[in-house]
Amino acid sequence: MWTCVYHIMGVNMEVGFIYVFVTYIRQLFEPITRIVENMEVIEEAAVSIDKVYNILEQEEYIEDLDSGIELENIKGKIEFKNVWFSYDNENWILKDVSFVINPGESVAFVGKTGSGKTTITNLINRFYEIQKGEILIDNVNIKDIKKKALRSYIGIILQDPFIFAKSIKDNIKLNKNIIDEDVSEAIELSSAGEFVNNLPNGMEEIAKERGSSFSAGQKQLLAFARIFAHNPEIFILDEATANIDTYTESLIQKSIERLSAEKTSIFIAHRLSTIVNVDKIIVLKDGKIIEEGNHESLVQTGGYYSKLYNAYYESLA
Ligand SMILES: Nc1ncnc2c1ncn2[C@@H]1O[C@H](COP(=O)(O)OP(=O)(O)OP(=O)(O)O)[C@@H](O)[C@H]1O
Ligand SMILES: [Mg+2]
Repeated sequence: MWTCVYHIMGVNMEVGFIYVFVTYIRQLFEPITRIVENMEVIEEAAVSIDKVYNILEQEEYIEDLDSGIELENIKGKIEFKNVWFSYDNENWILKDVSFVINPGESVAFVGKTGSGKTTITNLINRFYEIQKGEILIDNVNIKDIKKKALRSYIGIILQDPFIFAKSIKDNIKLNKNIIDEDVSEAIELSSAGEFVNNLPNGMEEIAKERGSSFSAGQKQLLAFARIFAHNPEIFILDEATANIDTYTESLIQKSIERLSAEKTSIFIAHRLSTIVNVDKIIVLKDGKIIEEGNHESLVQTGGYYSKLYNAYYESLA
């Protein structure tokens, strides 16, 4: 700096002057640098504040399983009264859906992918709250029933059942007091016997996390053993045999028919051959019920269901 100032500007500067100048410059820029550095931290804090508010504003972030009444000896009537439902408060997934399933009746929901079948089963379990209408079990609004109790009446099998990293036995009992003999019987009824007995420790075998050491079909068989052991009042089978071979499926079908003879059962299946014998078929299209009746009457009327059925039948041929 001294060289520049002396040679170009012809000014002679003392060392002290340069020293003071440099020190002041540094004192000027240091706070500015620090402010810029801290701007980044402030931005981060602003984002975090947003997130904290989001959590504080959550309406229901702890599921209250214990408030409400406990229905005793339920019969298993299910009724939807003008139910409107949307997952995101924007697109209606179910539009004015009404139906009645009487105690002991078997009903199948049929419809294209995305028509709202699984959504209906989610709502019966009250995994989501509906926006309009009412859902009743034994004529009681499910909002008034204890969630824990409600879910204990319902046995549900999904396409991909959840298996805990516990023994097969505990996976079937699920913390309920069930004796080992009943667990064995349930395993036989569900046709899971052959596969469980071939495991090194039988039903004491510890499953891997999420049941990753079992095939999709084996997990479904265990889910069947679960509901046979718990013997709930309402059965819901959502594509429950989709991953099981047709022979084993026919064996399970017989066990289901025996157990569900006097129980309310809901079936969802794309393989329409598995549902032709139900009491009532409810046909869904884009979240609306468009047809209702038994297999014969629906085929005779020649509507949407008969088209689905013919397409299915042709695909088999
Ligand atoms: N958790 C969710 N969040 C947002 N939208 C969802 C959710 N689950 C399903 N949907 C939407 O709701 C609609 C109905 O889905 P649903 O799972 O009820 O169909 P489905 O009839 O069971 O179909 P599939 O035969 O393929 O099982 C679909 O458009 C889907 O995208
Ligand atoms: Mg589904």
